[in-house]
Amino acid sequence: MIFTKKISVFALLVILIVISQSFTSFNHNDDEKPTNLKILQKDISEDELHHVMREYSRALGVKCGFCHERKEGQKHADFASDAKHEKLIAREMMLMVNDINNKYLATAGKGRFEKISCVTCHMGRKVPIISVDSLPKNPNQRDPKKIPLPVNDSIKAPQKH
Ligand code: HEC
Ligand code: HEC
Repeated sequence: MIFTKKISVFALLVILIVISQSFTSFNHNDDEKPTNLKILQKDISEDELHHVMREYSRALGVKCGFCHERKEGQKHADFASDAKHEKLIAREMMLMVNDINNKYLATAGKGRFEKISCVTCHMGRKVPIISVDSLPKNPNQRDPKKIPLPVNDSIKAPQKH
Protein backbone atom coordinates (compact mmCIF):
# COMPACT_ATOMS: atom_id res chain seq x y z
CA MET A 1 0.00 0.00 0.00
CA ILE A 2 2.60 2.53 1.17
CA PHE A 3 4.84 1.34 -1.62
CA THR A 4 2.26 2.03 -4.38
CA LYS A 5 1.42 5.33 -2.76
CA LYS A 6 5.09 6.28 -2.94
CA ILE A 7 5.23 5.27 -6.57
CA SER A 8 2.16 7.28 -7.48
CA VAL A 9 3.50 10.33 -5.64
CA PHE A 10 6.73 9.89 -7.55
CA ALA A 11 4.84 9.52 -10.84
CA LEU A 12 2.87 12.65 -10.06
CA LEU A 13 6.07 14.55 -9.36
CA VAL A 14 7.59 13.42 -12.63
CA ILE A 15 4.46 14.49 -14.51
CA LEU A 16 4.48 17.88 -12.77
CA ILE A 17 8.13 18.45 -13.59
CA VAL A 18 7.57 17.52 -17.24
CA ILE A 19 4.56 19.84 -17.47
CA SER A 20 6.30 22.75 -15.75
CA GLN A 21 9.32 22.35 -18.00
CA SER A 22 7.22 22.40 -21.13
CA PHE A 23 5.94 25.79 -19.95
CA THR A 24 9.25 27.26 -18.91
CA SER A 25 11.44 26.00 -21.73
CA PHE A 26 11.25 28.66 -24.36
CA ASN A 27 11.72 26.34 -27.27
CA HIS A 28 15.31 27.26 -27.04
CA ASN A 29 18.35 25.58 -25.72
CA ASP A 30 18.92 26.96 -22.24
CA ASP A 31 22.66 26.32 -22.41
CA GLU A 32 23.13 28.73 -25.28
CA LYS A 33 24.58 32.10 -24.32
CA PRO A 34 23.16 35.07 -26.21
CA THR A 35 25.42 36.12 -29.06
CA ASN A 36 23.70 39.17 -30.52
CA LEU A 37 22.72 41.51 -27.71
CA LYS A 38 23.17 45.16 -28.70
CA ILE A 39 21.17 46.88 -26.00
CA LEU A 40 20.66 44.51 -23.10
CA GLN A 41 23.67 43.84 -20.88
CA LYS A 42 25.78 41.14 -22.49
CA ASP A 43 26.19 39.34 -19.18
CA ILE A 44 22.45 39.28 -18.48
CA SER A 45 21.40 36.05 -16.80
CA GLU A 46 19.29 33.50 -18.66
CA ASP A 47 16.41 34.07 -16.21
CA GLU A 48 16.51 37.82 -16.57
CA LEU A 49 16.65 37.63 -20.38
CA HIS A 50 13.64 35.33 -20.47
CA HIS A 51 11.81 37.57 -18.05
CA VAL A 52 12.39 40.58 -20.30
CA MET A 53 11.35 38.64 -23.41
CA ARG A 54 8.21 37.34 -21.77
CA GLU A 55 7.34 40.90 -20.79
CA TYR A 56 7.76 42.14 -24.35
CA SER A 57 5.53 39.34 -25.61
CA ARG A 58 2.84 40.06 -23.06
CA ALA A 59 3.05 43.83 -23.52
CA LEU A 60 2.40 43.45 -27.26
CA GLY A 61 0.09 40.42 -27.01
CA VAL A 62 2.33 38.37 -29.30
CA LYS A 63 4.41 35.21 -29.30
CA CYS A 64 8.19 35.08 -29.57
CA GLY A 65 7.91 34.48 -33.33
CA PHE A 66 6.55 37.99 -33.84
CA CYS A 67 10.10 39.31 -33.46
CA HIS A 68 12.18 36.16 -33.87
CA GLU A 69 12.59 34.39 -37.17
CA ARG A 70 11.99 30.67 -37.39
CA LYS A 71 13.20 29.11 -40.58
CA GLU A 72 11.01 26.58 -42.40
CA GLY A 73 11.35 23.12 -40.95
CA GLN A 74 13.23 24.29 -37.86
CA LYS A 75 11.81 23.55 -34.47
CA HIS A 76 13.30 26.52 -32.65
CA ALA A 77 13.43 30.16 -33.54
CA ASP A 78 16.83 31.58 -34.38
CA PHE A 79 16.81 34.10 -31.54
CA ALA A 80 20.11 35.70 -32.48
CA SER A 81 18.99 36.42 -36.04
CA ASP A 82 18.08 40.01 -36.92
CA ALA A 83 16.05 38.99 -39.98
CA LYS A 84 12.69 40.30 -38.77
CA HIS A 85 12.08 44.03 -38.92
CA GLU A 86 9.89 43.73 -35.80
CA LYS A 87 13.01 42.83 -33.83
CA LEU A 88 14.86 45.84 -35.20
CA ILE A 89 11.93 48.10 -34.32
CA ALA A 90 11.85 46.54 -30.85
CA ARG A 91 15.50 47.56 -30.39
CA GLU A 92 14.66 51.14 -31.33
CA MET A 93 11.73 51.01 -28.92
CA MET A 94 14.07 49.81 -26.15
CA LEU A 95 16.28 52.85 -26.72
CA MET A 96 13.26 55.13 -26.77
CA VAL A 97 11.96 53.68 -23.48
CA ASN A 98 15.41 54.13 -21.90
CA ASP A 99 15.47 57.75 -23.04
CA ILE A 100 11.95 58.48 -21.79
CA ASN A 101 12.87 57.02 -18.41
CA ASN A 102 16.36 58.40 -18.00
CA LYS A 103 16.12 61.76 -19.74
CA TYR A 104 12.57 62.81 -18.99
CA LEU A 105 10.85 60.81 -16.27
CA ALA A 106 13.92 60.80 -14.05
CA THR A 107 13.46 64.53 -13.47
CA ALA A 108 9.76 65.07 -14.33
CA GLY A 109 7.66 65.70 -11.25
CA LYS A 110 10.92 65.98 -9.29
CA GLY A 111 11.61 62.35 -10.11
CA ARG A 112 8.66 60.87 -8.27
CA PHE A 113 7.21 58.92 -11.21
CA GLU A 114 7.56 55.23 -11.92
CA LYS A 115 9.49 54.16 -14.97
CA ILE A 116 7.53 53.23 -18.06
CA SER A 117 7.83 50.07 -20.10
CA CYS A 118 6.45 48.62 -23.33
CA VAL A 119 3.04 47.94 -21.82
CA THR A 120 2.54 51.62 -20.96
CA CYS A 121 1.82 52.31 -24.63
CA HIS A 122 1.13 48.91 -26.14
CA MET A 123 -1.36 47.64 -23.52
CA GLY A 124 -1.40 44.15 -24.98
CA ARG A 125 -1.58 45.28 -28.62
CA LYS A 126 0.95 45.17 -31.43
CA VAL A 127 0.14 48.76 -32.28
CA PRO A 128 -0.72 51.33 -29.62
CA ILE A 129 -3.70 53.61 -29.92
CA ILE A 130 -2.26 56.63 -31.69
CA SER A 131 -5.20 58.97 -31.93
CA VAL A 132 -8.00 59.88 -29.51
CA ASP A 133 -10.37 59.41 -32.44
CA SER A 134 -9.76 55.66 -32.12
CA LEU A 135 -11.21 55.63 -28.61
CA PRO A 136 -14.81 54.44 -28.33
CA LYS A 137 -17.14 57.22 -27.10
CA ASN A 138 -18.36 55.00 -24.27
CA PRO A 139 -15.57 54.76 -21.67
CA ASN A 140 -16.87 51.31 -20.61
CA GLN A 141 -15.90 49.98 -24.00
CA ARG A 142 -12.31 51.14 -23.77
CA ASP A 143 -10.79 47.72 -23.30
CA PRO A 144 -7.62 48.28 -25.35
CA LYS A 145 -7.76 44.80 -26.85
CA LYS A 146 -11.24 45.38 -28.23
CA ILE A 147 -10.55 48.72 -29.85
CA PRO A 148 -10.13 47.99 -33.56
CA LEU A 149 -6.64 48.25 -34.93
CA PRO A 150 -5.91 50.81 -37.60
CA VAL A 151 -6.37 49.39 -41.08
CA ASN A 152 -2.63 49.28 -41.47
CA ASP A 153 -2.07 46.96 -38.50
CA SER A 154 1.59 46.31 -39.05
CA ILE A 155 4.46 48.48 -40.09
CA LYS A 156 5.65 47.55 -43.56
CA ALA A 157 9.09 46.07 -43.87
CA PRO A 158 11.48 48.85 -44.82
CA GLN A 159 12.33 49.03 -48.51
CA LYS A 160 15.44 47.08 -49.40
CA HIS A 161 18.01 49.18 -51.23
C1 HEC B 1 8.74 42.65 -29.39
C2 HEC B 1 9.84 41.87 -29.94
C3 HEC B 1 10.32 40.64 -29.21
C4 HEC B 1 9.59 39.59 -28.72
C5 HEC B 1 8.08 39.41 -28.73
C6 HEC B 1 10.54 38.63 -28.18
N1 HEC B 1 11.81 39.10 -28.36
FE1 HEC B 1 13.52 38.11 -27.88
N2 HEC B 1 14.63 39.72 -28.51
C7 HEC B 1 14.11 40.89 -29.00
C8 HEC B 1 15.18 41.83 -29.23
C9 HEC B 1 15.06 43.24 -29.75
C10 HEC B 1 16.38 41.17 -28.86
C11 HEC B 1 17.81 41.74 -28.91
C12 HEC B 1 18.06 42.61 -27.69
C13 HEC B 1 19.39 43.35 -27.78
O1 HEC B 1 19.92 43.55 -28.87
O2 HEC B 1 19.93 43.72 -26.69
C14 HEC B 1 16.00 39.82 -28.42
C15 HEC B 1 16.90 38.84 -28.00
C16 HEC B 1 16.53 37.57 -27.60
C17 HEC B 1 17.46 36.52 -27.25
C18 HEC B 1 19.00 36.60 -27.30
C19 HEC B 1 19.46 36.13 -28.67
C20 HEC B 1 20.97 36.26 -28.88
O3 HEC B 1 21.65 35.22 -29.02
O4 HEC B 1 21.46 37.40 -28.90
C21 HEC B 1 16.73 35.43 -26.88
C22 HEC B 1 17.23 34.05 -26.42
C23 HEC B 1 15.33 35.80 -27.00
N3 HEC B 1 15.24 37.12 -27.46
C24 HEC B 1 14.29 34.97 -26.71
C25 HEC B 1 12.95 35.34 -26.81
C26 HEC B 1 11.87 34.48 -26.40
C27 HEC B 1 12.02 33.07 -25.84
C28 HEC B 1 10.71 35.17 -26.64
C29 HEC B 1 9.28 34.75 -26.35
C30 HEC B 1 9.01 34.43 -24.94
C31 HEC B 1 11.08 36.46 -27.20
N4 HEC B 1 12.44 36.52 -27.29
C32 HEC B 1 10.19 37.43 -27.59
C33 HEC B 1 12.78 41.14 -29.29
C34 HEC B 1 11.72 40.33 -28.96
C1 HEC C 1 5.79 55.83 -25.82
C2 HEC C 1 4.95 54.79 -26.39
C3 HEC C 1 5.63 53.46 -26.71
C4 HEC C 1 6.36 52.65 -25.90
C5 HEC C 1 6.71 52.87 -24.43
C6 HEC C 1 6.72 51.50 -26.68
N1 HEC C 1 6.21 51.59 -27.95
FE1 HEC C 1 6.40 50.22 -29.43
N2 HEC C 1 5.32 51.41 -30.68
C7 HEC C 1 4.87 52.68 -30.35
C8 HEC C 1 4.31 53.30 -31.55
C9 HEC C 1 3.70 54.71 -31.62
C10 HEC C 1 4.44 52.36 -32.60
C11 HEC C 1 4.03 52.52 -34.05
C12 HEC C 1 2.54 52.33 -34.22
C13 HEC C 1 2.11 52.62 -35.65
O1 HEC C 1 1.98 53.79 -36.00
O2 HEC C 1 1.93 51.68 -36.41
C14 HEC C 1 5.08 51.18 -32.01
C15 HEC C 1 5.39 50.05 -32.73
C16 HEC C 1 6.10 48.97 -32.22
C17 HEC C 1 6.44 47.79 -32.97
C18 HEC C 1 6.08 47.51 -34.42
C19 HEC C 1 4.74 46.83 -34.45
C20 HEC C 1 4.40 46.28 -35.81
O3 HEC C 1 3.25 45.76 -35.95
O4 HEC C 1 5.21 46.33 -36.73
C21 HEC C 1 7.16 46.97 -32.13
C22 HEC C 1 7.74 45.62 -32.47
C23 HEC C 1 7.24 47.64 -30.86
N3 HEC C 1 6.58 48.85 -30.95
C24 HEC C 1 7.87 47.14 -29.75
C25 HEC C 1 7.98 47.79 -28.54
C26 HEC C 1 8.74 47.27 -27.40
C27 HEC C 1 9.46 45.94 -27.36
C28 HEC C 1 8.63 48.21 -26.42
C29 HEC C 1 9.31 48.20 -25.05
C30 HEC C 1 10.75 48.06 -25.08
C31 HEC C 1 7.83 49.31 -26.93
N4 HEC C 1 7.46 49.02 -28.22
C32 HEC C 1 7.49 50.46 -26.22
C33 HEC C 1 4.90 53.28 -29.11
C34 HEC C 1 5.54 52.78 -28.01
